[in-house]
Amino acid sequence: MGNIPQDHYEPKPNSTASWIEDRLPIGGLISHLMNFPTPKNLNWAYVFGGILVLFLVIQIITGIVLAMHYQVGDEAAFRSVEYIMRDVNGGWLLRYAHANGASFFFIAVYAHIFRGLYYGSYKAPRELLWIIGVLIYVVMMATAFMGYVLPWGQMSFWGAKVITSLFGAIPVVGDSLAIWLWGGPAVGEATLNRMFSLHYLLPFIIAGLTVLHIWALHHVGNTNPTGVEIRKDSIENVKKDTVPFTPFIAVKDLYAIVVFLIAFAFFVFFAPNFLGHPDNYIEANPLVTPAHIVPEWYFLPFYAILRAITDDLWIMMILPFDAKLGGVLAMFGAIAILAFVPWLDTSRVRSTDYRPIYRWWFLILVIDFFVLMWVGAKPAEGIYPTISLLGTIYWFAHFLIVLPVVGLIERPKPRPATVEEAFNAKHGIGGDSGTAKTDGKADEPAMQPAE
Ligand code: HEM
Repeated sequence: MGNIPQDHYEPKPNSTASWIEDRLPIGGLISHLMNFPTPKNLNWAYVFGGILVLFLVIQIITGIVLAMHYQVGDEAAFRSVEYIMRDVNGGWLLRYAHANGASFFFIAVYAHIFRGLYYGSYKAPRELLWIIGVLIYVVMMATAFMGYVLPWGQMSFWGAKVITSLFGAIPVVGDSLAIWLWGGPAVGEATLNRMFSLHYLLPFIIAGLTVLHIWALHHVGNTNPTGVEIRKDSIENVKKDTVPFTPFIAVKDLYAIVVFLIAFAFFVFFAPNFLGHPDNYIEANPLVTPAHIVPEWYFLPFYAILRAITDDLWIMMILPFDAKLGGVLAMFGAIAILAFVPWLDTSRVRSTDYRPIYRWWFLILVIDFFVLMWVGAKPAEGIYPTISLLGTIYWFAHFLIVLPVVGLIERPKPRPATVEEAFNAKHGIGGDSGTAKTDGKADEPAMQPAE
């Protein structure tokens, strides 16, 4: 393994650029980023990383300007949001862009994660790239949760209460931990203050993690829909399998960004409250509990997993400890398990395109995710807790049983030997054809000499 051979940036001798380059090789870095050799067969599933970068920037910029007008405080917060909506020039646009931006950020991140799961992007040597991604996702969830508390509406308050109270389920230290988190005996002004402080901080942590994420990506290179690595043995072979990021991939990403922004603009301008909850336009009131406390849509699958354990009578009877603790462990476990996927997947091939059995299980995982999302918004009564429980069981079974077992028993379909071959075959171009990879070989770079 190692860096992908790439043309080097050489500033003109005795120029200002070469003076700077000798002291700080920023031109080299920019040239590396712009010309990075990217597999030429990437499909549309690979555009979401770029979209995520854009939405991170949108969230930070709109958030900073909103914070110039927002007032933190028990009495002030709700009022200041209405002030932003009515009196601040363009305030409504800032707020709607920020609130819907969070939703679109999550749409992109879920597409990005499921792309990674489908194409086995997490497999060696991309384990760290993947784990940094999982960390980003966790911090994104924390950030979104804290942001939702800030308008101090009914859902803000009760959502904060439900989620922070979960920490009370931790044995021995739970109660003290909850009080420490609240900054007092209950969710109140002190809680709101710390949520604001952290909500401002965490996006910059995400930005830092994103730099690491892209650094790792540029060290190992992208995968591609075939799962076969690009050849890195010579600059000529790299050029046969890849195109420079700019203009080829950049233009494609830009096209996807425009399409995504059109959908985003539709929500911001025509349905700005569609993804939110009407109860959040009622000021927080600790004395009135809403009929159903539901989080934002992007938390629903994991909220369903939490409630599958806390609200199911059978589970409550079987569990040797407090069901609330069980729910918390299941919810955090359902996210944490993603970090172990590189080691749970035993398949020799990356791409699910060549996995005739696993592809069906993957489809069930996607359906399961949406079923959990749907059931997470339903009240915990009737058939719903049972559906949540079945969905939860499949979520864990997929990663702990299906992924290891199917990888061992499945006979993958033959794969192309090189990216060039796959590309040429798809586009009807003659050229380096190579030989199809058969089942015995793993997805190491086809033409790369053994290390
Ligand atoms: C702020 C959030 C994120 C940003 C800005 C971001 C950015 C990017 C970019 C620009 C790429 C390259 C283009 C592409 O493949 O789409 C990429 C690739 C990748 N990302 Fe992310 N990402 C984020 C979150 C995540 C998360 C949550 C995960 C996984 C849990 C993840 C896992 C990966 C992996 C494995 C790749 C390599 C894909 C491949 O080459 O097959 N990323 N990311």
